[in-house]
Amino acid sequence: MRTLTNISAIPYSTFRFNAQLAAVTEFASVAELDIFHFDTTPVVLGEGSNTIFMQDLTAPVIRFVADSKMITELDAHHVLVHVEAGHNWHKLVSWAVEQQLWGIENLALIPGSVGAAPVQNIGAYGVELSDSCLYVDFYHWQQRKVQRIAAGRCRFGYRDSVFKHALAGKGVIVAVGFCLSRQPNPVLGYNGLDHLPANVAINSILDQVIVVRSSKLPDPAVLANCGSFFKNPVIALQHYTALKTKYADMPGFSQPDNTVKIPAAWLIEQQGFKGKHYGEVGCYKLQPLVIVNHGAGTAAQLEQLVTAVQQQVLSAYNIQLEVEVRMLNGAGQPVR
Ligand code: EPU
Repeated sequence: MRTLTNISAIPYSTFRFNAQLAAVTEFASVAELDIFHFDTTPVVLGEGSNTIFMQDLTAPVIRFVADSKMITELDAHHVLVHVEAGHNWHKLVSWAVEQQLWGIENLALIPGSVGAAPVQNIGAYGVELSDSCLYVDFYHWQQRKVQRIAAGRCRFGYRDSVFKHALAGKGVIVAVGFCLSRQPNPVLGYNGLDHLPANVAINSILDQVIVVRSSKLPDPAVLANCGSFFKNPVIALQHYTALKTKYADMPGFSQPDNTVKIPAAWLIEQQGFKGKHYGEVGCYKLQPLVIVNHGAGTAAQLEQLVTAVQQQVLSAYNIQLEVEVRMLNGAGQPVR
């Protein structure tokens, strides 16, 4: 275990706001968590690719950094891969592809750690983490032990899980179990992958996902960002039908329960925010759903932009955009 005190938040968030963190403690094992005592509920952080520090943080930050993985044969075609939370997500995807293990190849290049992945049920190009997740190991602060939560009880939804609700602030994810397949199972329905042949090799899918992602999304190592800033809103079919009479080209994707998912990027672009800046903070010029920090951006500039986007989208379409990124105040509570 090691603790750093009074340090800059810049290396701990890919949005790179210049806040201060009172204390960051890293744990390399569950045994180290057992002996950790705290008075204030800690903020659990992975690689900081979905977290923005809006103020100096007084709450302690904890990171579980153990990153081993273990593979067990389940049957002739499937393996269980048990991965500790500190493992880098993209490295896991690359390793699985090298091993010819199918299931997470479409999730290549998503920034962040394995432990953070179930919290928002990461997803891209027609695949979500929940499609291959078997269980999540959760260290419970009160019980002081690891509880294995079967995927069926994780309440996975669109960028959602039990870890954002009933278990928020209650503990830390220490490992995730995946069921991966030795049998090819390409998911190629998404625009950008749909030209690939049905017998495509797994490494060609990985390569193509990297090409598509890199063409639209800024690399956080180069231009500070936290990926999609808002969730794509899901509205009632009736609401969508009414909007369509006014905005004939509004895209929408039908969902099973008489609802329609609208691309937030379209709504934001139509309202003139593509490439628009408030100081150093703006909507990315190639994909306005991503908010970027050009360097010296401030929390006030981000607040201004987010408020303007939400207000304009609400007044034009009566759609409330929900922030997907975790924006934290000084006490470690979400500000939105
Ligand atoms: N669009 C525009 N203008 C643009 C870009 C997109 O109008 O400049 C509209 C188009 O109608 C387009 C639609 O938005 O068809 C969808 O765009 P895109 O395929 O880029 O996907 P997205 O809905 O913006 C989602 C995820 C991404 C994920 C991609 C690919 C959310 C919030 N975001 O983005 O996830 O990589 O699909 O599957 O669901 C993330 O969560 O951080 C993330 C990057």
